[in-house]
Amino acid sequence: MGLLEEAQRVAAEFEYSAEDVNKGVKEFIRQMDEGLEKTGATMSQIPTYVTAVPNGTEKGLYMAVDLGGTNFRVCSIQLHGNSTFSLTQSKVAIPRELMVAKTSKELFSFLAQQIAEFLKQHHNEHYHSSVRRRATVSQPGGFTEEEIFSLGFTFSFPVHQVGINKGTLIRWTKGFDIPDAVGKDVCQLLQDEIDALHLPVKVAALVNDTVGTLMARSYTSPGKTGTLLGAIFGTGTNGAYVEKLDKVKKLATTEEGGDVDKTTGEMIINTEWGSFDNQLSVLPDTPYDRSLDAESVNPGIQMFEKRISGMFLGEILRRALIKMIKDPEVPLFSDENSSNNDVHSTTCLAHNSPLFEQWGLDTSFLSITAGDSGPGLKVTRQTLDKEYGVSAASSEDAHAVKLIASAVGKRAARLAAVAIGGIVLATNKLAAPKDIATADNETVNEDEIVDIGVDGSLVEFYPDFEEYIREALRETEGIGAHGEKRIRIGIAKDGSGVGAALIALVADKVAKSDA
Ligand code: BGC
Repeated sequence: MGLLEEAQRVAAEFEYSAEDVNKGVKEFIRQMDEGLEKTGATMSQIPTYVTAVPNGTEKGLYMAVDLGGTNFRVCSIQLHGNSTFSLTQSKVAIPRELMVAKTSKELFSFLAQQIAEFLKQHHNEHYHSSVRRRATVSQPGGFTEEEIFSLGFTFSFPVHQVGINKGTLIRWTKGFDIPDAVGKDVCQLLQDEIDALHLPVKVAALVNDTVGTLMARSYTSPGKTGTLLGAIFGTGTNGAYVEKLDKVKKLATTEEGGDVDKTTGEMIINTEWGSFDNQLSVLPDTPYDRSLDAESVNPGIQMFEKRISGMFLGEILRRALIKMIKDPEVPLFSDENSSNNDVHSTTCLAHNSPLFEQWGLDTSFLSITAGDSGPGLKVTRQTLDKEYGVSAASSEDAHAVKLIASAVGKRAARLAAVAIGGIVLATNKLAAPKDIATADNETVNEDEIVDIGVDGSLVEFYPDFEEYIREALRETEGIGAHGEKRIRIGIAKDGSGVGAALIALVADKVAKSDA
């Protein structure tokens, strides 16, 4: 079989038709409802106790930290109160060994040290005066609460939230695995390590990155209709949206339900859609998805995430390529690249290529090939050479790789549309506003807009990710071409930092009004 023909066959395994999208959306809505009714459903639908989104007038200086993907970020955010903010940040890659540390203390003390470094570097005066004043805590006029930074903790894993700065870890995702932390209050774990270093910081709010994204988008682009959804398509994937309180039926049956602020009649729900359809009733399943899952740290969970997000797409592609490389009938990366069947003696693939290692192929490679349309796919070939030990990839090799990579990326985007479409339909946001007499097919009024904030490396860097999502939304019953035009998708850059600051601000207000 010719190389391109074989590549097309493999690419076809990733096709996700309009019919699949529609089936997916229906099931997504069903599982959303199930999650709102009971705890322990596949889609957790976690109540966040955040009952309002900001309007852009919020002000103050806050700190935020963000743990949840490849990097740990520490930042301070000055909210100016006019929908703008200034942000200072530092970022470190989280060492792989800490993601699977023996004890949670190892990870959390590392985080506290990063906060200390940040304070020394960017708020040196505050840091030293506070440490000095701490020594005077027992004297009148000594250390006071005002010296303390309120910190929003963006912790992007499924957490059972029981208060604005209290929540227990349900399970790890995205390659983290520290069993000792499961069931513990992650705010307390961080606060203990902050206190051990005597830092002037109080963990005031616990925030999922999707909630932060939704808050940040609402702060920076307050519109007539408000933002409906904050979604992350990065290392992992997830979404948080504004739900009607009376639809969150399980609140009535839980102990905490009584404490809910009912003024807005709404609450932000963290869907944890990464675990949509873990039972695979509608999700596509190729041999590459199956082996990826079987060899992951959490087989059988986050099945939707494992088909969509940046942590996994490179690995799916790698597995598809390895199957071809190992097939003596398929001349991929063969030096002669002809009909020569004896690939192994003529391969241009180094024996120690990262392609042979689990996680060896980075998802950024999918973005690189998707963006490469130059003659002979030179950039793809260069990357294969530099990063993946393929010394003389032919342009046919590069085309074969690009075909499969695009199929994996496109399927991910169409699955992302299932989640977005599901939420837009479940919340009935496309029902025409009463005061709009005619909804013609061409123009969209400002009050017809359904606003969505997104963040993450895939939406930001994968060319056409949004366009593929839009194509699938147009194919979705109940949305169609006009509905798709009404959906505005905007990047909420630094969403998790600003969003966490905004929630820390709300928490501060609540604490002061309770005092
Ligand atoms: C986590 C979510 C998070 C998402 C995006 C998922 O693996 O379970 O809590 O929002 O990744 O970071």
